[in-house]
Amino acid sequence: MDPGLVQLYDALVGAMGPEDVFGTLETADGGSRDEALDATFRRLARACHPDRFHGSSDPDERDVAGEAFRRLTSFRGRAEVKLANGTWGQRDAPDLPAGEETMEVKTARKTYRVATRPFVEGDVGPLYRGTCLEGDGPDSRVVLKLAREAEDNDLVRNEARVLGRLKGTPSAQSKHLPVLLDQFKSGDRNGVVLREIDAFDGTTLREKLPAGVPAEHAAWILARLLSVLGFAHSKGVVHGNVEPAHVMVHPPDHNVFVIDWTAAVVEPARTGEGFRTLNELYSPPEVGERKPPVPASDLYSAGKTMVTLLGGDPATGELPASVPGRLARILSFMTLPSPRQRAQDAWEIYREVGLAREELYGPHSFVEFRV
Ligand SMILES: Nc1ncnc2c1ncn2[C@@H]1O[C@H](COP(=O)(O)OP(=O)(O)OP(=O)(O)O)[C@@H](O)[C@H]1O
Ligand SMILES: [Mg+2]
Repeated sequence: MDPGLVQLYDALVGAMGPEDVFGTLETADGGSRDEALDATFRRLARACHPDRFHGSSDPDERDVAGEAFRRLTSFRGRAEVKLANGTWGQRDAPDLPAGEETMEVKTARKTYRVATRPFVEGDVGPLYRGTCLEGDGPDSRVVLKLAREAEDNDLVRNEARVLGRLKGTPSAQSKHLPVLLDQFKSGDRNGVVLREIDAFDGTTLREKLPAGVPAEHAAWILARLLSVLGFAHSKGVVHGNVEPAHVMVHPPDHNVFVIDWTAAVVEPARTGEGFRTLNELYSPPEVGERKPPVPASDLYSAGKTMVTLLGGDPATGELPASVPGRLARILSFMTLPSPRQRAQDAWEIYREVGLAREELYGPHSFVEFRV
């Protein structure tokens, strides 16, 4: 493996705060710390950028580069906040924007400093951004998700149960799943602490790209999404609420995360667990008809999600004319109303998408996705 990459990776894993990665940011020529951060970031990014290792024949090397780059960008985000706050070098200073009112949340294991104002009001409850005061590396930036009322506790607990099942065995898909770091109670309400994912959710991505995600990029997003679903299905888990807000995309290294497993069901045929959420635009007909969840239910929602990302209309399935017919046909097969006629097997469609990509765009090569 590339020795420079290994050295950088080790440093990033061992770093406690952004100061450990970027140093003092003192410049001899009187340049600003922001400029020094930018220059240092660019130098380190070159040493681990996934582009550089994309063609590597060693899958470990590709994984190490991906993880190093993810950590590096997360540390840069923390560095920017500290520079803006004027707390560079103060190791205990939380990396939340200054002026943001914060509160402390203590769990049995750790203490978190969290913004008092939620950054999003989800269906299940508010989500807060924060930092773990005893956290290291990227694990220190967290998102706390709290049930709105005690009645929503089972959804929060369900997500922890399902993530536990999916993470029970190490897998290549782990890097596409949320990382559950901790759990807590606030009064009678349950909460979870998740590692912050540095990525755009599908709704945000769509807002940033009014014409839709270019088909060439939508194709790898779909492939990744299908691989996560194929993995979950192999573990007996049906996500049950795939929609744009639950697909997060990190453009620099083409990583895709599938989040919000609150509505997921485990081995529905055996346990009798039913759908937990009806999503107006993205749920397949069987949800409203109170029929049992099947893996094909996720494929329907994934297909509709891709229609939205591509700039189409999820209600009608209509796509912009620029979307290649081969991709459009895969999406129509995924979104057939009848669960029996619809695509059944995520891995089979994954392979279809792979063949379509090769036919449309030639042999795999990394094409930068600018957002
Ligand atoms: N670990 C995370 N890191 C960064 N952002 C996250 C994370 N988890 C969730 N989010 C953001 O918060 C939004 C809502 O998260 P989630 O779906 O898990 O909660 P929810 O209560 O079900 O909300 P909603 O009703 O919006 O679906 C996501 O669309 C995403 O933008
Ligand atoms: Mg949600």
